[in-house]
Amino acid sequence: MSKSVPIAVFASGSGSNFQAIAEAIEQQKIQARIELVVTDKPNAFVIQRAESKGIPVLVIQPKAYASKEVYEEAILRTLQEKKVEWLVLAGYMRLIGSTLLGAYANHIVNIHPSLLPSFPGKDAIGQAMAHGVKITGVTVHYVDEGMDTGAIIMQRAVEVVADDREQTEQAIHAVEHEVYTKALQSLFNH
Ligand code: GAR
Repeated sequence: MSKSVPIAVFASGSGSNFQAIAEAIEQQKIQARIELVVTDKPNAFVIQRAESKGIPVLVIQPKAYASKEVYEEAILRTLQEKKVEWLVLAGYMRLIGSTLLGAYANHIVNIHPSLLPSFPGKDAIGQAMAHGVKITGVTVHYVDEGMDTGAIIMQRAVEVVADDREQTEQAIHAVEHEVYTKALQSLFNH
């Protein structure tokens, strides 16, 4: 029998990717279970999404800790208590530091709303539109110490809707939800 992989989802915002992953798990499309949601934003909508699914949430802000190391050590304790094996970043808007990278080497993945290596960092959709590119997309990649620089797992192109940020964003989000599900299936379903 196949086993389900214990994961934590890290998010700072709305959590639509969290929701898509949670639903894909409920539908048994991904052989994983979300043991914990970690957020650095006490008002993030992802908290309500997680609570409505009965998934525990760790709200933890770096400013309450002396350093990034101490902050990540606090997160790590909870991850270890819950025996989490993989970290799935879904709109977590912070660089992962050496503590979590060391504890979860090659077990951290991220989704980014561009065709990396184009437009890393914040507001990738805004960057793509400002450059006037006609095609952008979505990348799922492993996380390393850089900003959106780890090895690429999966990519999908999305057409920019000229001068329409909202429609472009909607198209990208819809593709993200599909591509993240596919990428996590390829990692966890054996
Ligand atoms: C997603 O578009 C994700 O790719 C992006 O944040 C959004 C979160 O949306 N992440 C990054 O830009 C990471 N550099 P969500 O909260 O609705 O899942």
